[in-house]
Amino acid sequence: MSSLVNKQILVGITGGIAAYKTIELIRLLSKAGADVQVVLTDGAKAFVTEMTLQAVSGHPVRSSLLDPAAELGMGHIELAKWADLIVIAPASADFMARYAQGMANDLLTTLCLATDAPVALAPAMNQAMWQHPATQANLTTLISRGVHMIGPAAGAQACGDVGPGRMEEPQDIYAAIDTLLSPVAQDLAGQHWVITAGPTMEAIDPVRYISNHSSGKMGYALAAAAQARGARVTLISGPTQLAAPQGVQRVDIKSAEDMLSACRTAMLEQADVFIGAAAVADFRMKDVASQKMKKSGDSNEMQLTLVKNPDVIATLSQEQAAKCMVGFAAETQDVIAYAQSKLERKGLDLIIANDVSRTDIGFNNDENQVTVLSKDQQWTPPKESKAALAVELVGLITQYQTQPS
Ligand code: PMT
Repeated sequence: MSSLVNKQILVGITGGIAAYKTIELIRLLSKAGADVQVVLTDGAKAFVTEMTLQAVSGHPVRSSLLDPAAELGMGHIELAKWADLIVIAPASADFMARYAQGMANDLLTTLCLATDAPVALAPAMNQAMWQHPATQANLTTLISRGVHMIGPAAGAQACGDVGPGRMEEPQDIYAAIDTLLSPVAQDLAGQHWVITAGPTMEAIDPVRYISNHSSGKMGYALAAAAQARGARVTLISGPTQLAAPQGVQRVDIKSAEDMLSACRTAMLEQADVFIGAAAVADFRMKDVASQKMKKSGDSNEMQLTLVKNPDVIATLSQEQAAKCMVGFAAETQDVIAYAQSKLERKGLDLIIANDVSRTDIGFNNDENQVTVLSKDQQWTPPKESKAALAVELVGLITQYQTQPS
């Protein structure tokens, strides 16, 4: 049986030529047994008619926040509570900007603010608008708040441009909604996963430090994916801008030494899986200056003496290994060969090789592509959002754990 039977789905349509495809999406959702209500922005009315949408959804279409007749039937807060999912297709650049700002200046943005239900966006806009830093910043904000993104796809656009920004096809949006609303098996209940994420910060003096570009997105996505399958997750995190995923216990640390000590504490109780997604600084200052270091004399050079940090994952592998030890390998050349040698050297079961020379994946990107290596096997999932990839990686790790050795 489809996961959509009797699900209450609110479809929001914003102004864009792709709006005509949303009629087919509503038809697919209704055919699968979902109860669909439609909300239009003013911009959407130029592309689709209320009459058509009412016919395919079987409900009056809503568009105004201040419509006494509509509020009499179901007030906008009730409508926000009614939805099991809000999906906005197409989601325009303007809508994304208003939603990211937390505005409530029309019915659709108000519903998005007032709902507890998951919200998914299928963006559609010109490729230059999609790639504009303002839209990308709004995208990052929305993803960090847990909004699900479906697409966009890349290809020929209605305006004649070619590039990213096409709305995904209705069947693909339908499939993504089906997955989103499918209950996640709680097959990791009873397991303890310890995951590191983000950068470490190694103090030079009271105001300066050595660090790197890790945003924590990959590690946080893994924590959320393991937690969603029922695992108890301890997330040992360097400084990031991210909120801890719901239900995950986060322990904040700064330096590599802090990270090792927090991991040791977390793993006093045997962990089932350890994942080292953090970008741990390999070196720290031999002596941290107690006062701000001053420019001295006329010299243009300055010498800092660094010493090696403990290797967190290699130490844990020897002292207190989880049943399954998983590392990442961030490499800029000979990615697979270097990853393979780290797998052996650090005593790991699996290593996830990440080509960080690419600017479209890896450090501080919303998407990633990796190759997972064991001693004798190799998997390469497609390039995808870190959230989707994390779901696949948690699946792979779980399968690996249950393989007969
Ligand atoms: O945080 P994001 O912006 O989402 O970016 C994700 C990421 C690129 C940081 C992540 O996917 C990644 O590749 N993390 C590992 C980065 C790294 O430090 O790689 P490494 O090859 O230097 O280290 C290999 C493994 O040893 C890693 O599991 C690392 O956590 C661990 N390590 C390294 C050094 C050290 N002193 N202690 C360690 O435990």
